[in-house]
Amino acid sequence: MGIKIKGCGYYVPELVASNEDFSKIVDTSDEWITTRTGIKTRHIANGELAYQMGANAAMKAIKDAGIELSDIDMIIGTTVTADCLTPSMACLVGKELGIEKAMCFDVNAACAGYVFALDIAHKYLACGDCKNILIVSSEIVSRMVDYTDRSTCVLFGDGAAATVVSYSDGEYKSYINSDPQGADKIFAKIPSTPNPFRTQTPDWSDERMQEAPELFMQMAGNDVYKFATTIMPEAVKKASEKAGWETADLDIIIPHQANIRIVQTAIKKLKLPEDKFYINIQEYGNISSACIPLALSQLKEMGKLESGKKVCLVGFGAGLTYGAAVFEY
Ligand code: UT7
Repeated sequence: MGIKIKGCGYYVPELVASNEDFSKIVDTSDEWITTRTGIKTRHIANGELAYQMGANAAMKAIKDAGIELSDIDMIIGTTVTADCLTPSMACLVGKELGIEKAMCFDVNAACAGYVFALDIAHKYLACGDCKNILIVSSEIVSRMVDYTDRSTCVLFGDGAAATVVSYSDGEYKSYINSDPQGADKIFAKIPSTPNPFRTQTPDWSDERMQEAPELFMQMAGNDVYKFATTIMPEAVKKASEKAGWETADLDIIIPHQANIRIVQTAIKKLKLPEDKFYINIQEYGNISSACIPLALSQLKEMGKLESGKKVCLVGFGAGLTYGAAVFEY
């Protein structure tokens, strides 16, 4: 049993920061950012909240799917930058949309979040418990970016994308995993409220994590780069194999948009034509879990997702999480 992406929608904040803008706040240049990452601009939330951006994208996806709010059985939020520790972003999105009954929860699988959520959705659809699942991916990465750290601040942007997913007769297979030994490669610690009873400060077992300031994202960029260039082609191959497909059979590959050089390395390793890979990093930068559904949404808008096309989504991120899903559109 497969999945049908019934509807798509996305929202990006109006505020845009260019590479030139970054060269005024940190020691960087358009030349460095463009050649090392492929990024030219990124959108930055300017008062929007993650659930509001998500609800905006969700409304478009629901309209595109041609269903009623009451048809939605489940809302899966994917985010690492939610507005609240609790409730989930999915509940906040559901409230904003006016939904009164649906199973709502968030998935935190960082930049691979959409692939993880789609896989969960597939299982709930396959067992028959759900007919329509709304996946809402919304990220305000800018709220945890350290704008004094040139090696990370230039990479990330904000935005949201949503899809309505339902059952189909087509193929769907996934290869999804994590390497938790890399949990300290990308992280952002949650600050605690002051507490009159506490006498001890937390003692993180990892030295890097112990020493890092709260809130600001920390990334071992080179380690993540090596991990990503290995894991991306591997996940695409393994998911395709599970479907009984050659990677050459894939029509469209939507990679997580972290660094254009990571995608180019994957293209070389997989020996596939570059035009099968959808890339929009130049405009949006890395929007964590929203990258892949935003790309899906744009491809649909362009009319490039015809029925029967073999699609592969492949992501990786903090955790370290990774995975690919292949399906017939
Ligand atoms: O969604 C998953 C999240 N993250 C990722 O996927 C990130 C994966 N990693 C990467 O994309 C790359 O490792 C980075 C873009 C983060 C860094 O690129 P790199 O080519 O690996 O550069 P590097 O870290 O090896 O740094 C090379 C030089 C260093 O200077 P020195 O020590 O050689 O003098 C850096 O300080 O580039 C310097 N540098 C910069 N220079 C100008 C780092 N960031 C910048 C910058 N502007 N923004």
